Amino acid sequence: MERFEPRLRRAAEMLKQVRSGIAFTGAGISTESGLADFRSPGGLWERYRIVTYREFLASAEARAEYWQMRRELIPALLKAAPNAAHRALAELETKGRLAAVITQNIDGLHQLAGNTRVIELHGTNRSASCLSCGRSWPIEDIQQRLEADDLDPHCESCNGLIKPDTVSFGQAMPEQAMAEAFALAEQSGLLLMIGSSLEVQPAASIPAAAHQAGARLIFINRTATPLDSIAEVIFREAAGKTMELLTKLVSSPCQ
Ligand code: APR
Repeated sequence: MERFEPRLRRAAEMLKQVRSGIAFTGAGISTESGLADFRSPGGLWERYRIVTYREFLASAEARAEYWQMRRELIPALLKAAPNAAHRALAELETKGRLAAVITQNIDGLHQLAGNTRVIELHGTNRSASCLSCGRSWPIEDIQQRLEADDLDPHCESCNGLIKPDTVSFGQAMPEQAMAEAFALAEQSGLLLMIGSSLEVQPAASIPAAAHQAGARLIFINRTATPLDSIAEVIFREAAGKTMELLTKLVSSPCQ
């Protein structure tokens, strides 16, 4: 692979040439905030079983398994802070270089970093709702119940099942968010993909849709992805450092 500096300069030039680009992020952008991703060695799917939406609805045992994972992960989520990569995306928005962040992440760190247009394709882990009446709670309230060993929390109002506002495997994707994400992908001149293995559909087809519509792609991901062949510039370096240096170059006066 070409040395880092020339790739960085090329990526900066690409960002400077578009009116405004979009970012597409996955769990890899949050690992430097102390949150494990899913498919790296030691990732969440090595430690927990995927509980599908159907299982969640059908079995108290599956819900207990699901909530035990949440009980272990929520404290880290609540402690996590945006890292240099999140901050760089917020700076690109402030400088009018980024129209939106489309994310698969459920950690809310893009909003905490200051991005104002964040499309959450897989929902958010920061709140939970009753699947029957729609009543909603901040996740902190549910965590208290989990820590009091209530691993199958039900709604006090209607006794419905409570679930985090995330999209589980087998659960319908948020239509509005998907439509907005594809519309943005199809009208953007540049897509910056950060920290996703691009293994999960339909989210992973966003970068392909952008490319199909003529967008230029920059990928920042430690490991190879199925879409690497359509990326113009690829960084295997860490997202934090790469985004910090890239944003500095984009903001510096033209060389
Ligand atoms: N810098 C750059 N890349 C990184 C870093 C880092 N600091 N840390 C991890 N990565 C890369 C990994 O190499 C990996 O390819 O980020 C990628 C994360 O991939 P996944 O763990 O598969 O996460 P993601 O792509 O977001 O998963 C998509 O799968 O399980 C579902 O709903 C879940 O939204 C998630 C979806």
